[in-house]
Amino acid sequence: MTGKAGCDPTLAKRLFIKTYGCQMNVYDSARMADVLAPLGYAPTDAPESADMVVLNTCHIREKASEKVFSELGRLKNLRRDRRDAGADMIIAVAGCVAQAEGAEIQRRAPHVDIVVGPQAYHRLPELVARAERAADPDRRGVMNTDFPVESKFDFLPESVTPPGVSAFLSVQEGCDKFCTFCVVPYTRGAEFSRPFAAIEAEARRLVERGTREITLLGQNVNAWHGVTPNDENSGEEPWGLGRLIRHLARIDGLERIRYTTSHPRDMDDALIEAHGAEPKLMPFLHLPVQSGSDRVLAAMNRQHTAADYRAIIAKLRNARPDLALSSDFIVGFPGESETDFQATLDLIEQVVFAQAYSFKYSARPGTPAAAMPDQVPEPVKAERLARVQALIARQQVAFNNAMRGREVDVLVDRRGRYPGQFGGRSPWLQAVHLAADFDPTNSILRVEIVDVHPNSLAGRIVDSPRGRSGVRAAERLSA
Ligand code: SAH
Ligand code: SF4
Ligand code: F3S
Repeated sequence: MTGKAGCDPTLAKRLFIKTYGCQMNVYDSARMADVLAPLGYAPTDAPESADMVVLNTCHIREKASEKVFSELGRLKNLRRDRRDAGADMIIAVAGCVAQAEGAEIQRRAPHVDIVVGPQAYHRLPELVARAERAADPDRRGVMNTDFPVESKFDFLPESVTPPGVSAFLSVQEGCDKFCTFCVVPYTRGAEFSRPFAAIEAEARRLVERGTREITLLGQNVNAWHGVTPNDENSGEEPWGLGRLIRHLARIDGLERIRYTTSHPRDMDDALIEAHGAEPKLMPFLHLPVQSGSDRVLAAMNRQHTAADYRAIIAKLRNARPDLALSSDFIVGFPGESETDFQATLDLIEQVVFAQAYSFKYSARPGTPAAAMPDQVPEPVKAERLARVQALIARQQVAFNNAMRGREVDVLVDRRGRYPGQFGGRSPWLQAVHLAADFDPTNSILRVEIVDVHPNSLAGRIVDSPRGRSGVRAAERLSA
């Protein structure tokens, strides 16, 4: 992993980044590596040999947050070992816990050198320099959890690491929805849409470097809005995500587009139409609903009813009949009765999901729901979680089973553990494993689904692949 910073590999400092939480954090971690590359930092997979460790943290539920403090204890010991061997380590906490609990981190873990919030990581070079200048190596803590006026995106250098065949692209940040359970509006700040030109330029750069699938990211990605690409003063209506997707779909070489995470309130007609009109937009949508009870949805401040959600799904399926759906559910929200919970199960039965995530409600400091009466006891939450997960699992198995014998396109994005084994994704985001006597990575293969496992499908190649490595493969297949 040395030498990626474009400097002498023997001189490169090593950077280990551990990422928790959502895809936004995955994207941010890659960008932090880009920001640190000009300082001579090259990525490593081994924290014990790292000159700098960044924990890119998630605050969404209590468990996620607490992990950070136990990891910081381990890092303290690692650094002691390194110091005994004459080296050192800078320890940084980034992401949403840094934003929400920066002062607490400095109090509970004074060995942390840098605390940096999700909107301030373009300032890492300055923070590293300040930490390095500190007189006491055990107390060099510097912190920046600003929501700066400038956008970090305008200060990020070109990426040094080649992108994957499937890549993330952040187009939107923050959230103004203020669901009563959620920390995101506090940790990520106000809704912000990246300008169209910057998104298009980044998408083109990704495709030029080999990316064939782009997932557009945002905490509220379908709240994205932007001015027209050609003329900011044309008086044209601002674009929404649907138009952005249809425009990006014109990029030659870009074959698949996805987006996540979206909010039901922002599923406008143009976006729904894009699902029907744009073949590059994959037929899989993660559209969290959280609950099937209108009483709970109102208490959550979701600003939509269960019927609204069903109506959106009906429109989407009308536009794209093979659309598969995913969602998030919270069980045990304050005041949730058995009847409310049953309404969630009913909604799941009616909508039918290909997969879904479900969580026990976790009271987050400073959010309105944490102070609500009628907090649901832990055993009740656990019991409801088990029931909702059993139902979702049944639907997932049924969805996957229906794939048996079907032919699907698979974007092969990784090698398996053993020679000749490869893995990729179906249009519906299912993991598909397959065997090949050539290297099909980065190509799209026509594959017959021959077996179905709980979390993946097994496929057999039936057609010549398309794509860079696929050209050679096709010749070989026909030879
Ligand atoms: N922006 C996305 C959600 C981001 S958080 C949206 O609006 O849907 C991802 C998921 O974590 C949420 O959809 C929700 O199901 C879950 N979540 C958020 N806060 C939570 C909390 N306090 N307790 C339990 N689950 C929570
Ligand atoms: Fe959180 Fe709600 Fe915003 Fe999603 S829409 S990030 S759940 S506040
Ligand atoms: Fe977690 Fe922050 Fe993402 S709280 S889910 S890392 S936006």
